[in-house]
Amino acid sequence: MYKTALITGASSGLGREFADILAGEGYNVILVARSKDKLDDLAAAIEKYYGVDTYVLAADLTRKDAAKYVYEFTKHNDITVDVLINNAGFGDYGHFIDSDWNRQEDMINLNVTSLAHLCHLYGGDMADRGFGRIMNISSIAGFMPGPMMANYYATKNYVLALSEALAVEMRPLGVTVTALCPGPTDTNFEENANAKSSGLFEGMYVMDARTVAEYGYAKMLAGKAVAVPGVTNKALVTTAKLAPGSFVRNMVYLIQKGRRG
Ligand SMILES: NC(=O)c1ccc[n+]([C@@H]2O[C@H](COP(=O)([O-])OP(=O)(O)OC[C@H]3O[C@@H](n4cnc5c(N)ncnc54)[C@H](OP(=O)(O)O)[C@@H]3O)[C@@H](O)[C@H]2O)c1
Repeated sequence: MYKTALITGASSGLGREFADILAGEGYNVILVARSKDKLDDLAAAIEKYYGVDTYVLAADLTRKDAAKYVYEFTKHNDITVDVLINNAGFGDYGHFIDSDWNRQEDMINLNVTSLAHLCHLYGGDMADRGFGRIMNISSIAGFMPGPMMANYYATKNYVLALSEALAVEMRPLGVTVTALCPGPTDTNFEENANAKSSGLFEGMYVMDARTVAEYGYAKMLAGKAVAVPGVTNKALVTTAKLAPGSFVRNMVYLIQKGRRG
């Protein structure tokens, strides 16, 4: 029987890789993001190479009730979602009080509200069927506070905490929940976050998106609650857990400040 995976943020970076990996494993894929042209091109390539069904849904997940819109699209088309990958997200580099509030609010709506709402909608259906897999993309940022990207780190703390709690609640119902926590990864994220002057990508080991996505996919299949790809990222997360809070937040500040004052 064919299974279906829904991937948000499938138009670039990690989401695009997840779509390719899942289609390669025989999943039909529902591709969600704002850039319809990119999604159409990806869907055509996936259908050609893997012969699976694809569905494209152009949606801005910062909008109120965006998750419901996605859910109703799948209901209307009679599609059962077996795998949900909540991947869409963005960051914003700089001092919080100097930032554009609308952008910060959009970030919360996308990284937090839509993600949680999609877990709620599809998680319920998965529990009713006694099977499902959810993977939420957090970050190593989920393990620490992040001066110079304060709201972004806070959203990823939320994603990690929500996912860990749901992993416990939903395991007896046959549903696994995995938080994938990448470190710096080569995608459009840095540019979209205006983080070129941050030391985050310059001074750190940057992984390629395919490696991170393959790692996440394997850990999701294994039903792991938390997955941190890469030795350097694992070491950073361990340090963040063990070191005093004042050391961690000031160290993150120094790294992120980079060339900025
Ligand atoms: N790259 C890293 O270093 C890194 C590290 C840790 C965690 N992450 C997380 O990984 C996830 C994927 O990011 P990425 O690195 O692959 O970056 P990316 O290349 O910028 O991809 C972001 C994806 O999210 C989609 N998206 C952005 N705003 C959206 C909106 N309003 N509605 C719907 N979709 C939207 C984008 O598509 P459209 O623009 O077409 O809408 C795109 O497909 C994010 O949650 C990010 O926080 C990234």
